[in-house]
Amino acid sequence: MTRRPPGRAEALLADEGLEVLVWPDDRVMPHQQLLEAVSQADGLYCMLSDRIDQQLVAQSPRLRVISQMAVGVDNLDLAACATRNIRIGHTPDVLTETTADLGMALLLAAGRRIAEGRDEVLTGGWGDWDPAHSLGRDIHSARLGIVGMGRIGCAVARRAAGFNMDVVYHNRTAHPDATALGARLVDFDELLITSDFIILTCPLTTETHHLIDRQALRKMRPEAILVNVARGPVIDTAELAEALTSGEIRAAALDVTDPEPLPSGHDLLRLANCLVVPHIGSATVQARAAMAELAAENLIAGLAGRPMPAEYPLPGGLTP
Ligand code: DGY
Repeated sequence: MTRRPPGRAEALLADEGLEVLVWPDDRVMPHQQLLEAVSQADGLYCMLSDRIDQQLVAQSPRLRVISQMAVGVDNLDLAACATRNIRIGHTPDVLTETTADLGMALLLAAGRRIAEGRDEVLTGGWGDWDPAHSLGRDIHSARLGIVGMGRIGCAVARRAAGFNMDVVYHNRTAHPDATALGARLVDFDELLITSDFIILTCPLTTETHHLIDRQALRKMRPEAILVNVARGPVIDTAELAEALTSGEIRAAALDVTDPEPLPSGHDLLRLANCLVVPHIGSATVQARAAMAELAAENLIAGLAGRPMPAEYPLPGGLTP
């Protein structure tokens, strides 16, 4: 285990009679130590901050199961895992609603300029009530564009309906639940050009890497607000900083960035119209405990050769 997870996960593994080694520090396990530890392991319980690369797979002849305590698996070299038929577990579903809650919180905060207002209050800038001061934009009746209509995208659409938003989405294929959720499939350009709010809820893949690049930002409305609860590299960070500085778009609210963490003094951290929180989409007591347990159950089932509660399909269909 590359980190001590919350809740009962470690106990569940020990109860199975597994010999469990846990990296004890409150920081990411250094890669060299990870390589050495996993070289003797049958299973790996890891975090999204661990780099599970080709070298690790090649140097770990016993490794049969990798169980990640996250839904996203973009830190894993899936092709390398597939060549060895290493099974992958992840943690969908248990964090869907929690992550959608945060997406909505960021959307509301950016739309109504909550962070700017708080900074003003704390730094003594709160003056007389001013009819033209700190004007945000209405959430209700605004158009929300959802990029990636999977579980989290659908959960965001459900929340947006409660705010009476006009919801459109972009996906490779139409989602069967979208119409019932009041969301309409549009092409990517239409979503960019017409949305007041755009939220990214897609996985990071080679297709979505820098999906929000200079051209995409240029197509957005000057009043557009961009929210990212997916993965940092879906946005070209330098281009976003430029667009926020020049006023090409109104604001951004980011749970995820590229890199993570952002170095202090980074351009995005200096901009009043950019709200950044430290990858806390699933950070509730309930969701993290459920993720930790599901990851343990995946590992136990995988090592026993049973179907995992949440197995990530390997490329090439090698999943047993
Ligand atoms: C995930 O699970 O992939 C999130 O980014 C962290 O909860």
